[in-house]
Amino acid sequence: MALVNMKALAGLAIGLGLAFFLPLLPAQSDKDSDPPKGDAKAGSMVFEDKCTECHNSDSEETKTGPGLKGVKEGKLPSGRKSNRENILEILTEGRDEMPPFKDVLTEKQKEDVIAFVLTL
Ligand code: HEC
Repeated sequence: MALVNMKALAGLAIGLGLAFFLPLLPAQSDKDSDPPKGDAKAGSMVFEDKCTECHNSDSEETKTGPGLKGVKEGKLPSGRKSNRENILEILTEGRDEMPPFKDVLTEKQKEDVIAFVLTL
């Protein structure tokens, strides 16, 4: 009899424990699985290394490619919308004298440099 009560109590304690802790778990894992897409600071190093030979970042003046200042205002030099998709496209495919960077940059470097270009 006493043993049965102990079991019932233990079950109740575990049940209460789970009921208390389970709701906390999803909130925490949500937070961890939502990192920012690109890191503009890391992207500025990629830009320095791979893009400045053809692009100014501090003016609209053309080098080999157009200066990229003003991209954050909403438009790329070509007049296309300045968003992640359009920059990713030219990075991947290249255009005219701009070489494709598909195999030159890692996925992360691409996202980082896109984040940086979108701050110019
Ligand atoms: C060898 C020279 C060269 C290099 C290196 C280069 N680009 Fe370009 N880029 C160009 C040229 C030329 C254009 C203009 C293409 C066109 O629209 O005809 C251009 C255009 C662009 C545009 C504007 C696209 C638009 O639609 O207006 C972006 C953004 C860009 N480049 C980003 C980058 C980034 C980021 C890097 C470094 C990873 C880079 N470029 C490296 C030559 C270069």
